[in-house]
Amino acid sequence: MSSRNSLDPVYAREVSAKILRNAAKVIVGKKRVLREILIALYAGGHVLLEGVPGVAKTLMAKTVARSIGLAYSRIQATPDLLPSDIIGTFVYDPKTGEFKPRKGPIFANIVLFDEINRASPRTQSALLEAMQERQVTIEGVTFKLPEPFMVIATMNPIEMEGTFPLPEAQLDRFLLKILVDYPSREETARILERIHRIQEFRVEPVVGGEDIMRIRSMLPGVRVSREVVRYIVDLVEETRRHPYVKLGGSPRAAIALYLCSKANALIDGRSYVLPDDVKLVAKPVLRHRIILTPDAEFEGVSVERVVEDVLSKVPVPRPEIEEEAEEEMGGEAESEAGGEG
Ligand SMILES: Nc1ncnc2c1ncn2[C@@H]1O[C@H](COP(=O)(O)OP(=O)(O)OP(=O)(O)O)[C@@H](O)[C@H]1O
Ligand SMILES: [Mg+2]
Repeated sequence: MSSRNSLDPVYAREVSAKILRNAAKVIVGKKRVLREILIALYAGGHVLLEGVPGVAKTLMAKTVARSIGLAYSRIQATPDLLPSDIIGTFVYDPKTGEFKPRKGPIFANIVLFDEINRASPRTQSALLEAMQERQVTIEGVTFKLPEPFMVIATMNPIEMEGTFPLPEAQLDRFLLKILVDYPSREETARILERIHRIQEFRVEPVVGGEDIMRIRSMLPGVRVSREVVRYIVDLVEETRRHPYVKLGGSPRAAIALYLCSKANALIDGRSYVLPDDVKLVAKPVLRHRIILTPDAEFEGVSVERVVEDVLSKVPVPRPEIEEEAEEEMGGEAESEAGGEG
């Protein structure tokens, strides 16, 4: 009951709007990417940002971290980066004659791990393990990572020499895989007009880490009707049936859809999930969890198209059902979706 009592979707929307508005002072466009980063943050997951160099991946990670007043660190992956460079080590202190832990850059709330596919498999797996466990072990001593804790890893879509592709089976440690595209022509012009301001602007915190933790605690109370649950299940099952799919969505993918839909509802200030929330998160949730057949590659069928197929094939439940449910709960649903269909 207590989780429902603390459910305050208006507060969640206000916090989200503050962060997004603050980020927009620096970042031109990229609304979808920023929203997806917030979704992952609220749902307690990590993100993989895929995009070519120079599309503001670093700037976005930094801006979100600073807007929330969180500790931020950046790790540049190279082939000779060692697990201890991330996690830390014990160092000898000659004054006391003792070994003291020196915590690595992973001890931050938002960790930007640039070019993850340039790290060696050993270092990648140390990172993936820390992401999963939310704690690290330095020479036998276990340390908890701070809360919130989110890794934003970046990856160049072009397979370059000297890179180590992430093991496909471990990709789903990332709650979302977010694509960062080029800006439009108009956006590029706006970046140029603002570039001196962008470079000088000091991003100030507009919310705190405790606000994020409070929104996280609301997630269990966000209502998902039986119809929407079934919709999520149908989507995941459909990914397994698609003719170009070798490996479809797992229950973990279904859980990710469920949690991210709830987080998206909160960003919009709703206490219940609509089918549109599920649709909005489907691509970033599913794109890295589906493995296509060799035929697909041969015929140029992309994972994006497969997810689009799946979305267009599965019947969408009618939103009216959600509104009735909301009334039953005595909530104050805004009936914006009314009159459709
Ligand atoms: N949408 C945008 N809004 C504001 N500035 C932008 C945008 N896109 C690019 N820039 C500018 O382009 C430059 C490159 O951005 P940034 O370093 O964040 O890119 P990146 O994606 O992290 O690149 P890399 O992959 O090389 O690390 C920055 O100076 C940034 O201000
Ligand atoms: Mg960068």
